[in-house]
Amino acid sequence: MRRSACACALILVFLTSCSNTTTEAPPPAKAQPLRPMKQAFGSVDGKPVDLYTLTSAKGMEARIMTYGGIVVSLKTPDRTGTMADVALGFDSLDGYLTTHPYFGALIGRYGNRIAKGRFKLNGTEYKLATNNGPNALHGGRKGFDKAVWTGRALPEANGLELTYISRDGEEGYPGTLTTTVTYTVTGEDELRIDYAATTDKDTVVNLTNHTYFNLKGQGEGDILAHQLAIDADRFTPVDSGLIPTGKRQAVEGTPFDFRKPVAIGARIGESDAQLKAGKGYDHNYVLNGAAGTLRKVAEVYEPSTGRVMEVSTTEPGVQFYTGNFLDGSNKGKGGKVYGQRAALCLETQHFPDSPNKPDFPSTMLKAGERMQSTTAYRFSAR
Ligand code: GLA
Repeated sequence: MRRSACACALILVFLTSCSNTTTEAPPPAKAQPLRPMKQAFGSVDGKPVDLYTLTSAKGMEARIMTYGGIVVSLKTPDRTGTMADVALGFDSLDGYLTTHPYFGALIGRYGNRIAKGRFKLNGTEYKLATNNGPNALHGGRKGFDKAVWTGRALPEANGLELTYISRDGEEGYPGTLTTTVTYTVTGEDELRIDYAATTDKDTVVNLTNHTYFNLKGQGEGDILAHQLAIDADRFTPVDSGLIPTGKRQAVEGTPFDFRKPVAIGARIGESDAQLKAGKGYDHNYVLNGAAGTLRKVAEVYEPSTGRVMEVSTTEPGVQFYTGNFLDGSNKGKGGKVYGQRAALCLETQHFPDSPNKPDFPSTMLKAGERMQSTTAYRFSAR
């Protein structure tokens, strides 16, 4: 009797310990897997807009909404661990519905300019919506930055998948284009963006993200003391309408040479025809290394806070833009006014006006094929 009671007790202990190992006990707070958080953020044309928060174990936090796939905020620590939001934008959805220069937005179908809003494909000339003088810029009047995307949290990947189906003929572009953009926050304090698109008719595609960065923190003055390095021996010079001439010009001996880190403000005021055309830097760099492979192409360092942003991409180019057209007309987060040079953009991309420049890497996407590209912005401090 006693024996069997003992045996029962043992079995019970064994079973309890077994069940303890099989039922998932809540892991200690630190080891909690990070999961995207979703909240309502208003609506556009009756369509609900959601805001997703992605956090890294180290504390970086990205908030992205389904309207325009916009990066609403990006908080990263400085060298003392103090967090700041390094992306320009607005506190609420309303701000993004006013006229603004693509703060944080996904850009499509075609990032940057297409001259005169025209191009030929398979012998047919397509006329696009023009919205930048005579040219088409960033996808037209209602580009992907103004669409409400369908969002889906990816808990395992700590990501957010956004999908938008652009109808055949939208803004003048041929083909029904299905675009999927996945934002992921990795354990390396990286905001990774994976772009993919398919079409049912041959078309052109050039997808990017237009976040305006200020590593001191948004609204904290200009970015002229930020030090920048871009791994590019050449850039594509432009005409007065910021359309590439088609040449690839060596950066050597010009204010466009960022092969070694230089303060952005060091040469921006020089009398240089290209800087004049852009009112500062607003140029596409021909990135070194093999396009199609994810490689580090740029690094930004902000000396007063120690924040560092490293940019990696599979794209052949990057548009380096110094917020030349910011004019204080947008009242941003916390009532901050964004003046000229309040931020910089590093828009990874195919070259501007590629559909009219046979010599540039092709942006054509054939019916039934899938384009794919990746860009990652990695944050740290030193
Ligand atoms: C891009 C362009 C700039 C400007 C901004 C938005 O960076 O190259 O010329 O249009 O977008 O204001």
